Amino acid sequence: MTHKIILDTDPGIDDAQAIFFAFQSPDIEVLGLTTVYGNVPVSMSAQNALTLCELANQDIPVTKGVGMPWVGPESGYAHFVHGDDGFGNINVEPSKRELDPRSSAQFIVDMARQHPGEITLVAVGPLGNLALALRLEPQLPKLIKDVKIMGGAAFVPGNVTPVAEANIWNDAFAADIVFSADWDITMFGLDVTNSAPFSPEFVDKLAEVNPVLGGFVQKSSQFYIDFYSQNREDRVCFFHDAMPLAYLVNPDLFELTEGHIRVATDSLNKGQTAVAPIGSTASPLWLEAKKIKVATKVNHPQLEKLYIDTYAL
Ligand code: RIB
Ligand code: CA
Repeated sequence: MTHKIILDTDPGIDDAQAIFFAFQSPDIEVLGLTTVYGNVPVSMSAQNALTLCELANQDIPVTKGVGMPWVGPESGYAHFVHGDDGFGNINVEPSKRELDPRSSAQFIVDMARQHPGEITLVAVGPLGNLALALRLEPQLPKLIKDVKIMGGAAFVPGNVTPVAEANIWNDAFAADIVFSADWDITMFGLDVTNSAPFSPEFVDKLAEVNPVLGGFVQKSSQFYIDFYSQNREDRVCFFHDAMPLAYLVNPDLFELTEGHIRVATDSLNKGQTAVAPIGSTASPLWLEAKKIKVATKVNHPQLEKLYIDTYAL
């Protein structure tokens, strides 16, 4: 079965890894890339998405979305992880293609109305576009098939604060809106993405099987590998954003658990995604919280094989 998706993204090196995986997979049809601030400011995010589409020869809509958190001042960006250009400072020629004039949120709403019940929203950046789309069209959860999110940390520490993962921390109020809405959500947080480190040799292999797209990933990932290899013996990086897409293609690779989620918005715990596994509490405050699925484990060797086989197509 082919999955129709909208990929909401802040490219970003691991976003590029994920976007190319989606483009390559015969099981995924990408209706558009909706961009958001996060790793980089939103105009760079949108420009980078256009550049990735051109590199991959994909003529699909790319939209620019929210550039600020739902509440509070403009965020800092993650140039220390993704480089000044969001692609590890590799001096890639920016695409001259044009953006779709709609906002990311409006595009999501339009597509959902056009394909009711068919679209999976895959969100791999802060969740402002999805929150705004919910405000534009309150019936959105009924029009969307399901939502897959890279973000959060249910049972493991965060990567920005002890309790919060970057995408959720970056726009905690928007995340609270999205995680409280009445749609089917599966969360791919640090529980699963940090459990699977990828070696530089694996990244080299992607370039070997696909010199253009894998080659781009190999080049851009060097900066990203340097970041992730600080304070550890081995050299690694994490394909955070590709995980929900891998799940769409082969869910059997993953173990999931179900629980009730709360997103914290107070300043100390901002962005915490606390999950109460089903049956673990009788507290009404938790039982009335939205039930979601959380990915907790992945078959790493099979995941590597899936990435390589897909890039090789
Ligand atoms: O915490 C990992 C997430 O934050 C990924 O989406 C990555 O692109 C960064 O923005
Ligand atoms: Ca991302």
